[in-house]
Amino acid sequence: TERTFMAIKYDAVQRGLISEIMGRMEKKGYKLVALKMVWPTEEFAGKHYHDLKERPFFGNLVKFMSSGPAVAMVWEGPGVIKMARTIIGATDPLKSNPGTIRGDLATSVGRNVIHGSDAYSTAEEEIALWFSPSEIHAWNRTNEDWISSNN
Ligand code: GTP
Ligand code: MG
Repeated sequence: TERTFMAIKYDAVQRGLISEIMGRMEKKGYKLVALKMVWPTEEFAGKHYHDLKERPFFGNLVKFMSSGPAVAMVWEGPGVIKMARTIIGATDPLKSNPGTIRGDLATSVGRNVIHGSDAYSTAEEEIALWFSPSEIHAWNRTNEDWISSNN
């Protein structure tokens, strides 16, 4: 089954938006298979965003991500990598559609409340960076037949 990595950023933690954001993935029908609060070091945040190292905002991004704890999650389900990005909305909250997390809850690209892996390869990489295998739980949902008919 497909899995993606998501992190509720420290701005959303400060603003009391954790349950609001998690609820959107949960209500959609995706399954939470790993969850923890992580206060990243600058080095760890830099690893997570390594592909943005050359960008002018990289320093600020890494400082912000290491300024407090994030809520790290692994979500599982059909098409979850792409759908999580759709639910999150565009990087710039002023360009994200209403109904998306960023479109509804944020106004600034530097405070855009949530991260989600952008592809299969980055999902694998980020899950492995943030979680050890023993922290990921393959639990069975008793109401699975009411969520999916082709499992
Ligand atoms: P993530 O889910 O956090 O990876 O966002 P994204 O995939 O929508 O965008 P991207 O990976 O390109 O950028 C990662 C993060 O860097 C964004 O979420 C922003 O917080 C920040 N960022 C991206 N572009 C800009 C920018 O132009 N200015 C600033 N200040 N921050 C930016
Ligand atoms: Mg990204």
